[in-house]
Amino acid sequence: MLIITGGAGFIGANFVHHWLRSSDEPLLVLDALTYAGNLESLADVQADARYGFAHADIGDRSAVAALLAAHRPRAVLHFAAESHVDRSIHGPGDFIRTNVQGTFELLEAVRGYWSGLPAADQAAFRFLHVSTDEVYGSLGPTDPAFSETTPYAPNSPYAASKAASDHLVRAWHHTYGLPVLTTNCSNNYGPFQFPEKLIPLMIHNALAAKPLPVYGDGQNVRDWLYVEDHCRAIARVLQHGRLGETYNVGGCNEVRNLDVVHTLCGLLDELVPKADGSSYAAQIAFVPDRPGHDRRYAIDARKIGRELGWAPQETFATGLRKTVRWYLDHADWVRHVTSGAYREWVGKQYGAGGRLQAPGAAT
Ligand code: NAD
Ligand code: DAU
Repeated sequence: MLIITGGAGFIGANFVHHWLRSSDEPLLVLDALTYAGNLESLADVQADARYGFAHADIGDRSAVAALLAAHRPRAVLHFAAESHVDRSIHGPGDFIRTNVQGTFELLEAVRGYWSGLPAADQAAFRFLHVSTDEVYGSLGPTDPAFSETTPYAPNSPYAASKAASDHLVRAWHHTYGLPVLTTNCSNNYGPFQFPEKLIPLMIHNALAAKPLPVYGDGQNVRDWLYVEDHCRAIARVLQHGRLGETYNVGGCNEVRNLDVVHTLCGLLDELVPKADGSSYAAQIAFVPDRPGHDRRYAIDARKIGRELGWAPQETFATGLRKTVRWYLDHADWVRHVTSGAYREWVGKQYGAGGRLQAPGAAT
């Protein structure tokens, strides 16, 4: 049994699907269902006896402790976070509460559970912390990519809160012996991503005939990774990662933002041509830059390749085409998250406050 915090979010939901496709082991999603948590992203697995859901906040130590005691997982995979940089600039408090304080409360609940396990179960237990390359700060144009030994230099409130959580996880290993693993990944894209992030926002705005807002000069670089490749990396680290180690995960795929947007427009021109024959690129609008905007991220993923045999399977071209097709095929999902209607679905499935559903008890 695995517990997946943040399993109703973008990467968490993809991980749940990935896990249930490749393993018989049950899992319990533990999620507070913030604006980013969406049970519609888990609709496909609702009826699966291996899937369970608990509506809980990682900052509620006693609720988490009760779930641990009831479900007795052999691992906790920690995806839950406030994840959007722009939101962290406008309202950093939630980022400190969830990413820092919440991770602390979660670690304490997990430590309490883990320390009461029989020795063999203690040794087999894993706490896998899902983190970001943003903890390393920003690269110049010719700097080498971030490696696991790059010093931390977080620049946004989001990045600082994730850096703090990484340090807490590390300390709980060194001080208390908690068997932890940490992954630091680059920008993900793919199905179920909330349309506030660059790629789904551009797809959504393009189809809605809205401007495509490119921050600053559009020359900032990100290292894009298809989300399924990230999920495969996490599964690999869970199974074979060395305790206390961190693993960088990335696509070796640096692209300037403006090029991402032009590529998306080209795909949409092909798949959903506009009636007047014009390109979606005509909707591109340069807007004021994000404060403190990191210029370039790039990941050196050689360690996870060398030690665990992981490599991405999608190229940016194949992954982006799949992603655009997914959004075109799931217009209802997009419409529900942009209208807020997915909350009605939550209420229907779980009642107003949500309810516990243990694996095997799916209705
Ligand atoms: P997301 O915002 O899509 O989902 C976050 C999930 O966490 C949501 O389901 C939300 O309801 C839940 N959550 C938030 N606060 C909670 C709390 N207090 N208690 C319980 N649940 C809570 O995020 P994502 O993009 O899927 O990112 C998942 C993890 O991966 C995060 O830790 C993020 O820092 C990390 N990460 C993301 C990316 C990326 O490109 N999206 C890249 C590298 C690392
Ligand atoms: O690098 C990993 C990180 O990637 C994760 O830790 C974060 O959770 C995730 O949100 C992402 O952070 P970014 O800030 O890089 O992602 P975002 O999609 O917000 O922006 C990608 C780039 O596009 C960034 O340089 C800002 C730019 N941008 C973004 C938006 C939303 C625009 O130019 N216009 C936009 O409207």
